[in-house]
Amino acid sequence: MSDTAQLIVDGKTYEIPIITGTEGERALDISRLRADTGLITLDPGCGNTGTCQSSITFMDGEKGILRYRGIPVEQLAEHSTFRETAYLLINGELPTQEELQRFSVRLNDHSLVHEDMRAFFESYPRGTHPMGMLSSMINALRAFYPRIPTRSEEEEINITFARLLSKVRTLAAMSYKISLGHKVVYPRYDLSYCANFLNMMFDSPVRPYRIDEDLVEALNVFWILHADHEQNCSTAAVRSVGSARVNLYASISAGISALWGPLHGGANQAVIEMLQEIYDRGGDPAPFIARAKDKEDPFRLMGFGHRVYKTFDPRARIMEKVCNRVLKKLNRQDPLLPIAKRLEEVALKDSYFIDHNLYPNVDFYAGIVLRAIGIPLDMFPVMFAIGRLPGWIAQWKESADDPKWKIHRPRQIYTGLLKRDYVPMEERG
Ligand code: ACO
Repeated sequence: MSDTAQLIVDGKTYEIPIITGTEGERALDISRLRADTGLITLDPGCGNTGTCQSSITFMDGEKGILRYRGIPVEQLAEHSTFRETAYLLINGELPTQEELQRFSVRLNDHSLVHEDMRAFFESYPRGTHPMGMLSSMINALRAFYPRIPTRSEEEEINITFARLLSKVRTLAAMSYKISLGHKVVYPRYDLSYCANFLNMMFDSPVRPYRIDEDLVEALNVFWILHADHEQNCSTAAVRSVGSARVNLYASISAGISALWGPLHGGANQAVIEMLQEIYDRGGDPAPFIARAKDKEDPFRLMGFGHRVYKTFDPRARIMEKVCNRVLKKLNRQDPLLPIAKRLEEVALKDSYFIDHNLYPNVDFYAGIVLRAIGIPLDMFPVMFAIGRLPGWIAQWKESADDPKWKIHRPRQIYTGLLKRDYVPMEERG
């Protein structure tokens, strides 16, 4: 296969290098394009544009493959824990027993949040969306931990990562408790990452929380499945904001804001709202499918479609299994589950969805799993954010360590008015 492509512009031929990734993906390296030809490329939404080379996550959207550091997500969901997967993503290798132990001690040591941060929470109006709170609280961590380690201070950088990974859980649970007007529950040293979070969310002096290992396991898998997804919108935001060499907290805060959108991490909440609406209107998905197909209607089937996957999102299959398992274990019916299954069945047979390669994505069954665990609806995107944090950190670290790091500064094709003169107020018509 050729390692260059030819571009002919105005009769002149330019050689464009082709670079190949380890899984055989090929890309035109256009980094010299403007300097050599005076042209730029136009690719709204970046569907054809790679902005970095990365060794963290591999996806094949046509085959439905997702691997973190080479390991299939299916294997991680079956055998790993979220804590171990976070270590893998950030450090590149699975930890030894000793490394994992050290990592756990660190997560435990940094799980408390400065008491002064409570004042921030308490000043938010009741009903504030917890995703907005989380984004600003993560940014505020910079004020409480002002010393940002330099790139050579590896130990200090690892402490900053652990601080974020651990405190995000505490902050998320605090936002929930304070929104209820209830007493905050502190993290416990004797609980695992996931169990600790559930305990902080649901323990109460009047109703002690009984930890159910099956729910802990479901949460583990939920977070593993969300841990990274290469250059998605929020990760691109983390990299882009980080490219200005702002501190890690501000970069992650930007990622949380991007993730909040209903087309991205807000979709798990939007799916449940859609399923609930179908249920409230009698349970027939047909009118919703018809709306999703109608070009005049902006409505989309939530939890369907993906920029990269043109087949089943591999995470959706695992999530569906977790969903069935959890509901069976709890011996609970969720009236939204049969509606989701019916909707999926009808959509997958419909020529519009087939022709557009629209399949369920990770969010389709995620909401039902979260409901079973007891997570309130507006906390759904927050759950996604906690899960995605290891990926954001790994991606931020990779770009910070890249010797070719450049500030992100896309170009544009200007389509506005040509030069004209300022008109004084009294002369304006
Ligand atoms: N329902 C109906 N039609 C859809 C849907 C959908 N969910 N998704 C895409 N389409 C259609 C579009 O109308 C468009 O049709 P057209 O070509 O006939 O005009 C075509 O499919 C392509 O759509 P785009 O918006 O160009 O696809 P893109 O790759 O940019 O969007 C996205 C991907 C945003 C995920 C989209 O599929 C969507 O909005 N899905 C619903 C929201 C959702 O579930 N988001 C979660 C994504 S996964 C995640 O972030 C974890």
